Parts: sequence; C-alpha cells; structure tokens
Amino acid sequence: MKVAPSRPNIEDELAPARRQTNAMIAIDNVSHVFRTSGRQDHLALSNISLIIEDGAFVAILGPSGCGKSTLLYVVGGFVSPTEGLARVKGQAITGPGPDRGPVFQEFALFPWKSVLGNVMYGPRQQGVKSAEAEAQSRALIEMVGLKGFEHFYPKELSGGMKQRVALARTLAYHPAVLLMDEPFGALDAHTRTRLQNDLLNIWERDRKTVLFVTHSVDEAVFLSDRVVVMTRSPGRIKEVVEIDLPRPRRRSELLLDPRYQKYVVEIERMIDDTSEEQLRP
Ligand SMILES: Nc1ncnc2c1ncn2[C@@H]1O[C@H](COP(=O)(O)OP(=O)(O)OP(=O)(O)O)[C@@H](O)[C@H]1O
Ligand SMILES: [Mg+2]
Repeated sequence: MKVAPSRPNIEDELAPARRQTNAMIAIDNVSHVFRTSGRQDHLALSNISLIIEDGAFVAILGPSGCGKSTLLYVVGGFVSPTEGLARVKGQAITGPGPDRGPVFQEFALFPWKSVLGNVMYGPRQQGVKSAEAEAQSRALIEMVGLKGFEHFYPKELSGGMKQRVALARTLAYHPAVLLMDEPFGALDAHTRTRLQNDLLNIWERDRKTVLFVTHSVDEAVFLSDRVVVMTRSPGRIKEVVEIDLPRPRRRSELLLDPRYQKYVVEIERMIDDTSEEQLRP
C-alpha cells in the first residue's frame, strides 16, 4: 500500500521555541503500514505529527481500530514506523527503553511473583540493591493504595488492584514518560474514578509526561492538558483540543463546571463525526 503524501505538519503553528526546548516526545510525519500474510497491507497510521512537552498529560481518543495503540507502540519503541520518525528527548526511538514506561493491559504482571516482587523487578534489573529496591517499592505500593497487599500474588487481586500494581511496577524504574493504553478500561466506574484521582495525584507530584489512550471522553477531559482526536482508520490527527481547566482538578467540581461540560460535548461531537463510516478491513 502506498503511504499518503505528506500533509502540512499539524504542529507547525506552535511557537518554534516551544517545539525546540520543551519537547519530550516529537512525532514527525509518522506513518505505519502493517504487512500481513493473510490480508492486504494495512495503513494503520498516516502522517501523524505531534509534539508532547515535558510534563504534559496528553490523551488520545478515536474510534476502535484508528491506530491509537499502534501510535503508543511507536513511541514505546515496540513498532518501527514505516515512514517518519519519533524522538524522545531529541533522540530517535529505535527500541524500548527505561525512559518510557508502558502500562499496557497485555503486559501482564508476573504471576509467579508477589506484588512486592513485581514492583521490585525493575529496580533490581537496573542494579538497585535489594534493601533499597524493597524500600522504594514498598513506598510505591503504599502510594498506589495497596499497603498490606505486598505478599499477595496477582491471581489473588481484583482487576483494579492489578492495574495499581502495574502502575507501581512501571513507576518503580522512574521512566520520564508513561505510556498508558486504556489502563482503566476494564474497571468498574467507582474503581476507575479512584484510579483516575490517584493517577492525577501522582502526576501532579512527579509531573511525568503521560500519553494516555482512552475511549472515554470524560476521562480524557478530566485528566489531560490536551486531547488528540484521531480519525477512523487510517488514523490521522483530526483535532487537538487544549483543555484549559484549572488544576488540581476535583471531579465533583468539574462535573458542575460548564467549561468542562462544553469540552466533553465538543469532543464527543468530533468523535461522532469520525464514527459515521463502518470499520474497514
Ligand atoms: N500486528 C498487527 N498486524 C496487522 N494489523 C494490525 C496489527 N496491529 C494492529 N493492526 C491493525 O491496525 C489498525 C490499528 O490498530 P490499533 O490496535 O492501533 O487500533 P486502536 O485505535 O488501538 O483500536 P482499539 O480502540 O480497538 O484498541 C487496525 O485496523 C488493526 O487491525
Ligand atoms: Mg488499542
């Protein structure tokens, strides 16, 4: 399949200084074609350009199959784009690295390790001494609200608890960037809200750069500085919406805030526009 010709860079309007000095992730005209034996080549991403500043919280929304996970895999270094380049701190991304921490559902916890063992794994791999790794990991387990569960095994935990362990495990090796692919998608509404609040608290404290894929407009607006709306396959960027809502954000206050409601309605409308067509093989 031929990759579509270049489109004007969507971030060209940004001030050059902002683009140069503060970019944690720079995605420049990235296209990706999956080549499979069973079916035609599939253009999953088409000319994606995006600058993500250090410390920004950016959500990606779009219809199923539009390439959200593929984009996260490109930034994670798990997929090499067919065209274009993705950079982290100015360096071309050539593979996974400890600077980018994935929190993906498919990267399950080690079932044979306890909660503490799972969280300690990263620091131990990085050569942190056992006592220090344990102390740091215990602090993280407490931070994600699992104090008392250190010696439980994944099979003894609920979905929300596993998701908390996955977050603690990633935070334990101090990545500059968190890559989160629908991390709360499978959770009940109450657990989801609690984890959203916990994630915001952690983010407000550490100011990591977060790239967060979700299907929930509400979640995207609540959490993010910017929401990137993608079009139906092949995924392109349809709109980038700056979420100008004060922080720290309280869910109970936001739900009553007309500005919040306006963002949700506006973005839902954008997504409806992209969803009219059927899924294409
Ligand atoms: N390994 C692969 N081989 C071939 N095609 C793939 C592969 N992974 C994804 N695709 C195709 O690329 C497109 C984008 O997939 P991707 O998983 O990135 O979508 P998504 O936006 O994350 O969808 P969802 O919201 O359902 O998770 C889809 O059409 C999918 O069929
Ligand atoms: Mg996906």
